Amino acid sequence: MTWSNIRYILGALALAFAVAYGAAAGLTGSPTLEQSAKAQMQGFVPGGAKDNAPLPWGPIRKGLEGKSNVKGPMANKLVQSQGEEWRNFKNGPLSQFGGWLLLAILVVLVLYRVLRGRIDIDAGPSGRTIERFNALERATHWLTASSFIVLALTGLNVMYGRYFLLPVIGPDAFAALTYYGKLTHIYIAFAFMVGVVIMFVLLVRHNIIDATDFNWIAKGGGLFSKGVHPPAKRFNFGQKCIFWIVVLGGLVLSVSGVALLFPFEITPWADTFAFMNIFGFGLPTDLTPLQETQLSVLGHGVAALIMIAIIIAHIYIGTPVGMEGAIGAVASGQVDVNWAKEHHSLWAAEMEGEAPPQPQTGEQPAE
Ligand code: HEM
Repeated sequence: MTWSNIRYILGALALAFAVAYGAAAGLTGSPTLEQSAKAQMQGFVPGGAKDNAPLPWGPIRKGLEGKSNVKGPMANKLVQSQGEEWRNFKNGPLSQFGGWLLLAILVVLVLYRVLRGRIDIDAGPSGRTIERFNALERATHWLTASSFIVLALTGLNVMYGRYFLLPVIGPDAFAALTYYGKLTHIYIAFAFMVGVVIMFVLLVRHNIIDATDFNWIAKGGGLFSKGVHPPAKRFNFGQKCIFWIVVLGGLVLSVSGVALLFPFEITPWADTFAFMNIFGFGLPTDLTPLQETQLSVLGHGVAALIMIAIIIAHIYIGTPVGMEGAIGAVASGQVDVNWAKEHHSLWAAEMEGEAPPQPQTGEQPAE
């Protein structure tokens, strides 16, 4: 193992521990449901804001409902009792789940790298290349990728920054960073949405699941044994999963994100749940505008955390740290012919104008 590889692994571990610290701080920082219920009974402001004298929240919750002068979708809703539960779930289990998920993916990748090693071109580079992604496809990849990375960093700051950045850089710098981070998050989101739509249009026809994928799955994609290369067309099953996660996850992020730009006005969940109920989910469809907005926050957070974890794995395998020769596809657009033959044999044969390679014993015949 070379020094540069060890540096990558140490860097990943340092990042993993920073995130674990954030998750652990989140774990201890938010009150339990019982604690907050007790505090509310005693008349304290939900959320435990400092400097608040006990107030008669119980009567306000019951007595003023239906009598407020507030206009708009939130009229008559001074206090929503489930709000505290929602808040505790968001700052408790959800942020812990995210912290552990990010930590888990980093640990799995480090272990995979140490145990399996880098996926090299078995036959070695041939020195001859073929085009894998044209200029439009590459521009779309980097539009989506760069905007996603900015969104992920600014979003993670909103979720975890208070635990591990605030103590380091102090309240003034953290407030400024988070304010501009939030603005950046909102504007860059549009670049991401455009990127996902163009990516869908350009690549969907190559990402339909077919019989080749079942054989690829049966062989574990060759990911766990050296020298095994199940046949694949332009994209293998793993890449098709990345594609659909980006498209469907991007859809959830976009809809919930736009709904959060117009809280209480854009209310997508009742209709979504009604549709899901056709398949027997049994979800509630009678939602208030506030519940809609709360669901958007949760949906946005869950989709973002899952996508970030998966994209970390995608970035690992796309760079020379995880695989030899893949990065050329999205950098220059060219990949080595031997890389193509090993990872995408059916596509390589088509590009080279050859007959599809003969299946090895026990392999699914090429289509
Ligand atoms: C530094 C970050 C990234 C690197 C190094 C990277 C690398 C790569 C590489 C090498 C490929 C081509 C694989 C092939 O030839 O088959 C690829 C494809 C792709 N990338 Fe990325 N990527 C990055 C970030 C992202 C992000 C953030 C997203 C989406 C949010 C993304 C989505 C995709 C999709 C959908 C494809 C096409 C299908 C696939 O290969 O899975 N990438 N990427």
